[in-house]
Amino acid sequence: MGRLDDKVAIVTGGARGTGEAIVRRFAEEGAKVLIVDVLDDLGNAVSSELGASVEFVRGDVTSEADWETVPGGERAVGCTRRAREQRRHLAPVSR
Ligand SMILES: NC(=O)c1ccc[n+]([C@@H]2O[C@H](COP(=O)([O-])OP(=O)(O)OC[C@H]3O[C@@H](n4cnc5c(N)ncnc54)[C@H](O)[C@@H]3O)[C@@H](O)[C@H]2O)c1
Repeated sequence: MGRLDDKVAIVTGGARGTGEAIVRRFAEEGAKVLIVDVLDDLGNAVSSELGASVEFVRGDVTSEADWETVPGGERAVGCTRRAREQRRHLAPVSR
């Protein structure tokens, strides 16, 4: 029995690198995983390799319109909007 049986995870940036490693580990532990990434080829390849429990949907995390196409993504739309509003109140970083 996996530690993530019956759980569903959305992994943004899951097509490669750290995100991909998270996708693989979560799938090993029994989660159903939805990869949201802008890299179609890599995202689809990871999904195909790992089987039916891992799906890929193309999405740019900064795009509210893209989040609306992600199953369960409607909650992220509000987060994206709030993050943008909070950024407006931050002082610019001087370099
Ligand atoms: N690799 C390291 O050693 C390391 C160390 C410390 C911190 N980090 C940070 O961890 C994060 C991931 O690192 P990584 O090496 O796995 O990077 P990576 O570039 O290999 O992977 C990032 C993934 O995020 C996706 N992505 C980027 N912008 C996106 C967007 N707007 N919408 C959807 N998907 C998007 C990319 O397509 C890619 O698949 C980065 O923020 C990096 O700065 C990495």
